[in-house]
Amino acid sequence: MRLILLGPPGAGKGTLAEALVEKLQVPQISTGDILRDAVKRGTPIGLQAKTFMDAGELVPDDVIIGILKERLERDDCQSGYIFDGVPRTIAQAKALDDKGVVIETVLLVDAPDELIIRRLNGRRSCPECGIVYHTATKRPQKSGICDACFTTLITRDDDNVETIRKRLKAYHAQTEPLVDYYEAQGKVKYLDGTLRIAESIEEAFKILGIE
Ligand code: AP5
Repeated sequence: MRLILLGPPGAGKGTLAEALVEKLQVPQISTGDILRDAVKRGTPIGLQAKTFMDAGELVPDDVIIGILKERLERDDCQSGYIFDGVPRTIAQAKALDDKGVVIETVLLVDAPDELIIRRLNGRRSCPECGIVYHTATKRPQKSGICDACFTTLITRDDDNVETIRKRLKAYHAQTEPLVDYYEAQGKVKYLDGTLRIAESIEEAFKILGIE
């Protein structure tokens, strides 16, 4: 399965990817996670990307395309993968097409901007193992502590209202055109991003025919 999870920030792409990875046993390729790791390690790519990420803007296409090329060469990509939050521009989608990457399905997960702002305001992440929680909809057993590795949870630097609004603006201007791009290829399926977590996972499995 080669799947793209497309949708605005906070629509639940990462949460769905976690469930899909377990079900399909293929890797999740999240450029957001790869970039955050690069920022944490202080690599040249991380230093370059941080300015854009903090400003709620997209990281330049050449950086993302380079990351993707390297990631897709790894052995674990042989039987498929789930792209989470990538491609995000027409140039990125074209680079994948040019590389001969055949995408089977694009799952568009959409939700209204105001719901997204509430969701991202409540998101907490584990800086150690990457598990994502929410203060209202996915609480850890002990408040502020990761269930899996007991690390103190953090709020992502870009999860503040001002930056969330900028990320939404970037989504509508630069990423939404991908819906038409993949519609023209007959690949888009739609998932209601306002559903609760368990329902949205169940619905995604149904849509993808992997119940
Ligand atoms: P990235 O990390 O990809 O962030 P994003 O697309 O903004 O998406 P998020 O991770 O914020 O949201 P999500 O949809 O995964 O939601 P989640 O499941 O966590 O990118 C960050 C930055 O990196 C970008 O701004 C850009 O600068 C750069 N970047 C990355 N890729 C790039 C690319 N390809 N090109 C250029 N730049 C790039 O859920 C959110 C919260 O809601 C969680 O707390 C969760 O528990 C909760 N939740 C999830 N689903 C539900 C539900 N159904 N009901 C209730 N709560 C829910």
